[in-house]
Amino acid sequence: MSETPTPIFLKDYRPFDWKIPNIELVFDLDFHRTLLHTTLHLEARTPNTPLPLVLNGEDLALLELKLNGEILPPERYTRNDQLLTIHDVPPISKLEITTELAPDQNFSMEGLYRSRDMLCTQMEAQGFRKITFFPDRPDVMAVYRTTLRANPEIFPVLLSNGNCVIDHILPDGRRETVWFDPFPKPCYLFAVVAGKLALTSGLHVTPSGRKIELRVYTDLDKADRAEYALDCLKNAMIWDEKTFGLECDLDTYMIVAVDAFNCGAMENKGLNIFSAGCALANPATATDADYARVDSVIAHEYFHNWTGNRVTCRDWFQLTLKEGLTVLRESLYSADRTHPEIQRITEVRDLRNSQFIEDAGPHAHPIRPESYIEIDNFYTATVYEKGAEVIRMMRTLIGERAFHKGIQIYFERHDGTAVTTEDFIAALETASGKDLSLFKHWYAQAGTPEVTVTEAWDNAQKIYTLTFSQSCRPTPETKQKKPFPIPIDFAIFNAETGREIVHQIMCLDKEELTLSFAFPECNQKPIPSVLRNFSAPVNLHFKSTPEDQEFLVLNDTALFNRYETFQSMMLATLRHAIDAPEKGFPPKIQNLWRTLLLRALNKADLPGFSALVLTPPSVTQIATAFAEINYPKIYRVRRDFFQFLCAGLEPELRQIIHDNDTIALPYSPDFESTGKRALCDLAFRAIATQNIAILEDAFERFQTAKSMTEQFNQLALLVNYPSGLTTRALEIFYHKYRADSLLVNKWFAIQISPRTPHLKAVIASLENAPEFDAKNPAKIRALYGSLIYNPSVFHDDFAYNYPFVLDKILKIDAFNPMLATGLFKSAFSQLKQLPQENQKRMREILTPLQADASKISPNLFEILGQIL
Ligand code: BES
Ligand code: ZN
Repeated sequence: MSETPTPIFLKDYRPFDWKIPNIELVFDLDFHRTLLHTTLHLEARTPNTPLPLVLNGEDLALLELKLNGEILPPERYTRNDQLLTIHDVPPISKLEITTELAPDQNFSMEGLYRSRDMLCTQMEAQGFRKITFFPDRPDVMAVYRTTLRANPEIFPVLLSNGNCVIDHILPDGRRETVWFDPFPKPCYLFAVVAGKLALTSGLHVTPSGRKIELRVYTDLDKADRAEYALDCLKNAMIWDEKTFGLECDLDTYMIVAVDAFNCGAMENKGLNIFSAGCALANPATATDADYARVDSVIAHEYFHNWTGNRVTCRDWFQLTLKEGLTVLRESLYSADRTHPEIQRITEVRDLRNSQFIEDAGPHAHPIRPESYIEIDNFYTATVYEKGAEVIRMMRTLIGERAFHKGIQIYFERHDGTAVTTEDFIAALETASGKDLSLFKHWYAQAGTPEVTVTEAWDNAQKIYTLTFSQSCRPTPETKQKKPFPIPIDFAIFNAETGREIVHQIMCLDKEELTLSFAFPECNQKPIPSVLRNFSAPVNLHFKSTPEDQEFLVLNDTALFNRYETFQSMMLATLRHAIDAPEKGFPPKIQNLWRTLLLRALNKADLPGFSALVLTPPSVTQIATAFAEINYPKIYRVRRDFFQFLCAGLEPELRQIIHDNDTIALPYSPDFESTGKRALCDLAFRAIATQNIAILEDAFERFQTAKSMTEQFNQLALLVNYPSGLTTRALEIFYHKYRADSLLVNKWFAIQISPRTPHLKAVIASLENAPEFDAKNPAKIRALYGSLIYNPSVFHDDFAYNYPFVLDKILKIDAFNPMLATGLFKSAFSQLKQLPQENQKRMREILTPLQADASKISPNLFEILGQIL
């Protein structure tokens, strides 16, 4: 860490000189001191000449090295802080390595570490080099045999990838299990879990008749929350069988929920490890949002078993090959599980709130970058979400059937190997017979394309013309952009009859393109509905008339575009009001809001749709409309706007609650009930803007509700209007749930809101709460993350908040760089878009960090350089 870190380039890729068909790992497990004995069976790619063998290895205590049975003397190898080089290794060799690990001193959440009463591992991307010496790269695929030995009282459960082939007690009283995984895999998919775990299991029979045992392991106190994960896993398996003809290839499929984990979940072969909040749910402890997350994360990790594990990445530049594709598969699955257009609405909302912001800021990068300093920094919204959008566009152009065929060809060609994004595109090309080569521009160029649409109507000739053009701002890797292929799904409506007269998908693959239509039956300009279902991840610029907009909000046949049009109208209103607050809000938009509310009331719209369309754009979303962002002001104007929209509608809102209330029913996370609860929640919040007497009802419901969704929604409402009730509700929640790690996280997070009085004091007292654990990623995110992810709070008292948060992040960086860097990015990436005083304060504290790279992690150093 002492020198300035240097980048790695895609163009420098070379295959590894050695094959390692087999590897054996023997662990003597213990929290303080674990011994690992590794045996590598090596075969040189170019036979007959002894070669050097270069292995990765970091922070390792090396006890012994043996080559072909002989202990290696020090002169036979060289070692620095990253690499071990053994000179003159015969072309067929056996290397044995003994390393010593201290899992309970490892707080990086990488390699082998402790979580409560468990030992567990996280290897992706480069954790394997922290347990032993190995070519830690995804194109070296080996068959693993893993032996785990431990004291059975402390570690009654011992798990690794594949099948358990031996399980017995050794003469010395320790337990020994041996696991054999027949599928060759890269080391990033290796996993071990050991400790005191509760098991919930189920069975799945595949269409070909294979029986798969499904197991969910949890901490002992959370065994009553595993059933839903089993259910989701079965559903995901069935979906992949039906949709892509892909069956699970294992006899046992295990999921482990752990308390301490850096990300959401990890797809280790046959032994997925999850952050507890992404796997566990029951009605009393999980909200609708938690249920939805569990479903999609379980599906995502399961889908990796084919897209990622059976076919993996040649190198980490190809990360989007597995992540983009798996995110897309997960999204198609969720669309089938819920409602396709409503799913798309939330997905696009999230895409804009993270990926679009990333692509517009200092960290913009192509979905397949050409270079990186720290691979951990490339697990981004761009590689994931934009990566999924790019594959979705190709699917849109070639059609669903050709896409399915392309996926089949991809597995026929590449099963068991490590490949590139070009290989994937080639499979889609073969399946469809279409040329997708222009899509390389989406892989290689960053930035969100701007698409401008203009229309013209010649009433004499009855000719309607749409002109589409594209551009994209320069980004570090490409100054002058080549045109992107942009599928544009659009419809045209007859303005008099309201009937859809055209619906087609065209591909804008040059700078400009014009389409003309003859509509002899029209006496008025027709109405276009463009970029339906968000057919491409672009910013659309189209100045439609207020009448056309109103028509689309109420009548567009694409639900997505009804949402989209109304949101853009609200966004335009908010933008004007933020620039000129004295002018007030126009009554027209309130009328339209009221009309949409009445549609909810008359059940003309789905509750889940109404909840989304009636919610004004978020603070984050509004901020994207400004070159200089004043978050506290945006927050205030948005709050006033919502109050303005709801004025005079209390009776209607109460009726909506009455008609959609699920509080007396048994909890169910299905699409319809979730939509009703979302709509009721919106109605409660809307009434509160008019009549705070509703808070008494909120408190009552908070106390009596059985489901966590209801309790938490009401608690959030009470926090938004600080009063004695708020204090009491927070106390009740704490006393009820203080022993529950997941609910304590919610309790931490909810208290950091724009309305919290004495926020500094609240944060200080939460830091000192006995439940806070300064090493646990979920706790850190719940406390400091909630401050950072809450921009109107964070950028308000900035003189205090910036140095406060930086100090915490630097402390975290010393033991968990990945977590620290994620927080750092969220806190400081928008520097150049903030008002002058904010910028000045940020620069004051950030600039000194650049002077000495050795004081911060390479991860943080890379991100810092991009920001300043
Ligand atoms: N392979 C990743 C886990 C991962 C993330 C490893 C970052 C190393 C660094 C896993 O498949 C994943 O993508 N998990 C997501 C959740 C998913 C639903 C998008 C996560 O952890 O956030
Ligand atoms: Zn993934």
